[in-house]
Amino acid sequence: MDSKGMAVLPGVVPPLATRRARWAGLLAVALILGVLYFFVPLEYPATPSLKISPPVCPQEYPLTPQRNGAFWRELTDLYATDAFLTRAVEQLSSAVQIPTETFDEMEPVGVDERWLSRGPFIDHLATAYPLVHTSLKLQKVNTYGLFYTWQGSDTTLKPVLLMGHYDVVPVAPLSADQWTHPPYSGHFDGKFIWGRGSSDDKSSVIETAIEALLERKFAPTRTVVLSFGFDEEAGGYHGAQYLAAALLDRFGPNSFSMIVDEGLGFQENYGTIFALPDIAEKGHLNVEIELQTPGGHSSVPPGHTSIGMLAALIVQLESNAPVPTLQVGSPVFEMAQCFATRGATMPSKLKHALLHAGKSPKALKTAEALLLKDPVLKALIGTTQAVDMITGGVKSNALPEQAWAVVNHRIATQSSVNETLQRDVELLEGLAARFNLSVTANGKLITPAADATYGSLALTTRQELEPAPVTPSNAAPFRLLAGTIRATFHAARKDVREGKTDIVIAPAIGPGNSGASELAS
Ligand SMILES: *[C@@H]1O[C@H](CO)[C@@H](O)[C@H](O)[C@H]1NC(C)=O
Ligand SMILES: *[C@@H]1O[C@H](CO)[C@@H](O)[C@H](O)[C@H]1NC(C)=O
Ligand SMILES: [Zn+2]
Repeated sequence: MDSKGMAVLPGVVPPLATRRARWAGLLAVALILGVLYFFVPLEYPATPSLKISPPVCPQEYPLTPQRNGAFWRELTDLYATDAFLTRAVEQLSSAVQIPTETFDEMEPVGVDERWLSRGPFIDHLATAYPLVHTSLKLQKVNTYGLFYTWQGSDTTLKPVLLMGHYDVVPVAPLSADQWTHPPYSGHFDGKFIWGRGSSDDKSSVIETAIEALLERKFAPTRTVVLSFGFDEEAGGYHGAQYLAAALLDRFGPNSFSMIVDEGLGFQENYGTIFALPDIAEKGHLNVEIELQTPGGHSSVPPGHTSIGMLAALIVQLESNAPVPTLQVGSPVFEMAQCFATRGATMPSKLKHALLHAGKSPKALKTAEALLLKDPVLKALIGTTQAVDMITGGVKSNALPEQAWAVVNHRIATQSSVNETLQRDVELLEGLAARFNLSVTANGKLITPAADATYGSLALTTRQELEPAPVTPSNAAPFRLLAGTIRATFHAARKDVREGKTDIVIAPAIGPGNSGASELAS
């Protein structure tokens, strides 16, 4: 989700942000060319300042395509031209100008008219990228899900799957006039492209890179599959869920050599530029808390109404928030160790603690305490909870028979949906017993009613999503991506080629789990 709607990520140095559109295209080209031949010799010298193989946060040499070296060089030259920048800007801008808003709780495709906004976007892709649409096979899944197959010549190679989503979050009517440039203007101010979707995620969905490869008659050896969802911002239940089933049906389980989805940030941290591909995504869980109590007239009230009891339950939850713990080997730990190893300006106390945290429990605790001061890192490290909705009562002189709240959880990678629900149940059952309430969790009886006249507490889970499996950062697909990002950066920036600066790849983790449902099973 892009709160400001600009095609820029916080902390990115301006020259990179300026050229994001073409840079993203070059990365896609490199990836498509590169995945055909894992691990080819480097073409650019590694910057002397960047050691490749320390014990923690090892880096890849820039990986450049070898057998397809001619394509790579030609496209690298093309991408450096102003004419190409103009073309890439125009292509991203025109995609941003087509609103494809996703709302919560949409009715199925064919029923809810708001899905119709997807049609013009799909038509636009077909017009803007004609070669893609004659050379690749396009299957539409649940009408608006796009499943492209770019058939490779060697069918013994597992295909690569590139994913994205072309929907955006709605623009709140009240905030529409607060935009510097309107959210669907796609305005290019010479530096940034403005508008919803410019960074999340239409820059991944436009087919600039493949069209450029096809213009040069490139034909892949390994099959390339594209899967673009249309309701990622509401969980992907109408798009990605159907696409995953279609991919599974077509290719079978464990059939891809590599899956790349959104979730690649760039940030300058501690004086160093980091590329941060997410290797993990937190889980998600809503726990609905519902209290049912006898009604009656408010003139003869019991000691506690359902609203009062719900309030006490919420206080109980908030007084006992989950305590995040930094675990050795977790994605956040790996990321922080990269910052410690590669960051030029990390304060020495934190740096020292992080570099010893793998072996010393004391250093781990020190590192944890320092990292938890940062609210974003704190949220990444542990399971979070937020009471986000509440209702109860219908009339000022009637006892409320029902009170209801929703706790939204983002589940730590080392935890699970069940463990999170279990924690809520354990926190609340004692208090519920004091109120003489029966307790159920997902319909299963936890505490029977001592006296049914008091009422019931029911916990129900919704929108369950387990944390995504963690991608090992030493596995070939991650290393290929890392080496490709470095090669792309080297190709795109003179100061990097001259050794004045460089980019470090750190495995990272996404704060929400907005993209998790896009993963093919
Ligand atoms: C979660 O708990 C439910 C009910 O206790 C059980 O049926 C289910 O198998 C559990 N799921 C996992 C992934 O452990
Ligand atoms: C729960 O029930 C017991 C036994 O009937 C009663 O003494 C007690 O006051 C009740 N607690 C509440 C909070 O109403
Ligand atoms: Zn997104």
